[in-house]
Amino acid sequence: MTIELPALPYPRNTLEPHLSAATLDEHHGSHHRGHVEATNRLLEGSGLEGLALEEIVRRARGRLADEAAQAWSHGFYWTCLSPRGGGDPAGPLAERLARQYGDFIRFREEFTRQALGLFGSGWVWLVQRPDGTPGIVATRGGGTPLTGSDTPLLACDVWEHAYYLDRQNARADYLEAFWKVVDWQAVGARLR
Ligand SMILES: [Fe+2]
Repeated sequence: MTIELPALPYPRNTLEPHLSAATLDEHHGSHHRGHVEATNRLLEGSGLEGLALEEIVRRARGRLADEAAQAWSHGFYWTCLSPRGGGDPAGPLAERLARQYGDFIRFREEFTRQALGLFGSGWVWLVQRPDGTPGIVATRGGGTPLTGSDTPLLACDVWEHAYYLDRQNARADYLEAFWKVVDWQAVGARLR
């Protein structure tokens, strides 16, 4: 089974002005595509052919693990965003964030603090711990929560390629834009 590049879930210009069509073209059409293609190349002869991408991420080692993780994380990232995103979460997710962090604003501040504090390239995640509570996890490079016991609910790509066309190296400006397009409905639907 070949791993496919998933289409963007929305037209390329519809996250503007927060994330530009040029950024999506480059990020999805070049970076994400490159990881999918590298995953397919490295899968040959690995013994993991035919597995779902998530399973490959969990089982692979070395370069295939990194490429597969990046392929999966980017697909997940796109589904965390929406032209109708932004605002605050509602329902059970809002309640659990409030219980854990005090309120949504404080959760967002902590997530942003970890995103700005991550040295170099990586990802910041809202996860659901095995005991049901929400948590914030920062992973370096191509790391994902899939290789541990947490369930990913939301991903923020903080590799510079996620924002340099729009905001040069200003990660803080990107985080502000990111919050305006987070699809809280999709994120909340992942709670178990
Ligand atoms: Fe990326």
